[in-house]
Amino acid sequence: MRTRVTELLGVEAPIIQGAMARISDARLAAAVSEAGGLGVIACGGAPLDWVSEQVAEARTMTDKPLGANVMLMDPQAPELAKLLCELDIDVVTTGAGSPAEFIAMWKKADIRVLPVVASATQARRMERLGADAIIAEGTESGGHVGELATMALVPAVCNAVRIPVVAAGGVADGRGMLAAFALGAEGVQCGTRFLTVEECTVAEAYKQKVLGARDSDTIVTGRDSGHPVRCLKNRFAREARKIESDPARAAEREHLYSGSLARAVSGDVEGGSVMAGQVAGIVSERKTAADVIAGMTAEAELLATCSLEKLATVNALRNTQRDLLNTEVVQGSDPCTTHVPTGGSNG
Ligand SMILES: Cc1cc2nc3c(=O)[nH]c(=O)nc-3n(C[C@H](O)[C@H](O)[C@H](O)COP(=O)(O)O)c2cc1C
Repeated sequence: MRTRVTELLGVEAPIIQGAMARISDARLAAAVSEAGGLGVIACGGAPLDWVSEQVAEARTMTDKPLGANVMLMDPQAPELAKLLCELDIDVVTTGAGSPAEFIAMWKKADIRVLPVVASATQARRMERLGADAIIAEGTESGGHVGELATMALVPAVCNAVRIPVVAAGGVADGRGMLAAFALGAEGVQCGTRFLTVEECTVAEAYKQKVLGARDSDTIVTGRDSGHPVRCLKNRFAREARKIESDPARAAEREHLYSGSLARAVSGDVEGGSVMAGQVAGIVSERKTAADVIAGMTAEAELLATCSLEKLATVNALRNTQRDLLNTEVVQGSDPCTTHVPTGGSNG
């Protein structure tokens, strides 16, 4: 598939594996890049030595384009920004702030720059500053979140800028990918979907929690402190919500938040922040990164060949004959020519 995003990034599929702090390391990023998407090493909160090691390690696993992510609220962001110019990195994505002061330096180092934004105003500003593309991330997503939902944000951002837009937040399969393209995007970024792939090194208990989650099992902590984060409901989230609006409990809150993602990543899925998006509700199987990318692309491509009427037929089949549809999607035959059995139920 060729879009402005695949051309810009030099990849085969317009699918970016979203950075996941303490989780998306060399192994996951290299597997995604090797499979034709863009793998992104998360640098947020990581020592600079670790970043250099991970980039070098990923390079032993793939020679395809590779990304790194800078969390701009990270105190070492300026040093990290410089380091990335010296490392073998093709793309930088940024989160939690404005990368204004670094964009010129990265572009001089021939690095593509894709800031994550949560509003059309931010997107316009990033375009003016020279960003190569925009990642518009809706509040459904896991990790740090804004206010607008993907469904409203993506078309608003697409109306606001001329550079390509990548949709993030709530995309986990071909249906989501096609929907993102219908809203105006030219690529997608997925985080939660990649949490459960074989190459993801997060603790097994974390994967199980995501696989077992329902659509309503996420919650946002930290709104009152100005750092809203979407995670799965657990003891940590309940305690956080209880104390976060009480000024008298600031020290207690600080203690609870400190190292909360690290605790979850190493397997404490009750005491830590199990960051994941609402789409965890439809992530119910383990796959390899390559299967995720191939399956998502094939399903989106196939559904895109249908008229709305035929799409409705496919949607009815999805409920009545899910296995049949999946087989046909994998085999690449046209589900649009398949008829819904008369009297079929949606159950
Ligand atoms: C566990 C976790 C950690 C994340 N950490 C980061 C991060 O360090 N930097 C960043 O820019 N985005 C981060 N994100 C957001 C993802 O890169 C991605 O945009 C988001 O997960 C997309 O939404 P989805 O979860 O619905 O797929 C994180 C998301 C998750 C689930």
